[in-house]
Amino acid sequence: MPSRSTRPLRRHPRRVLRSRTPFVSVILAALLATAAVSGLARAGDPKTPLGKWMKPNMGAPLAGEDYDALKKSLDLVAGKTPKGDYPQWSAMATAGSAAAAKQDLKAVKASCKQCHDAYKDKYIKDFPDQPFP
Ligand code: HEC
Repeated sequence: MPSRSTRPLRRHPRRVLRSRTPFVSVILAALLATAAVSGLARAGDPKTPLGKWMKPNMGAPLAGEDYDALKKSLDLVAGKTPKGDYPQWSAMATAGSAAAAKQDLKAVKASCKQCHDAYKDKYIKDFPDQPFP
């Protein structure tokens, strides 16, 4: 039977494929899971030099309710409006600074949120590498 000798050869690739399929999907699933997890972990991470500066100079003093440090940082930010379409930047930071002077935690947080809601995404797009301060 001449066909017998060729059959194992022809079958071989198919068997390899079939046995590898579950393995490949396990790897794919693992890769997807990793991507999802690292995507989540990165959601609140600073993307720019400004963001990296914000963590110790805004985030930390806010957590510690260090109003002097907050006021200083907010004043600095108020004086550094980015080039382009950021009309409310300085006013938002100045409002935050005034709130810090009054030790009004709620109003300070509101200024952080206002600016982040208005400009965070835009700033990350416009100035991924701009040094700050
Ligand atoms: C006038 C604008 C403005 C004000 C006011 C402001 N921020 Fe930000 N902040 C930004 C921008 C723009 C980014 C995005 C930069 C980045 O993520 O790299 C940012 C990013 C951050 C980050 C790092 C990224 C993140 O999502 O955690 C932290 C932490 C942060 N700000 C804390 C604060 C806190 C706390 C306050 C208020 C006390 C504050 N900021 C006030 C503009 C502002």
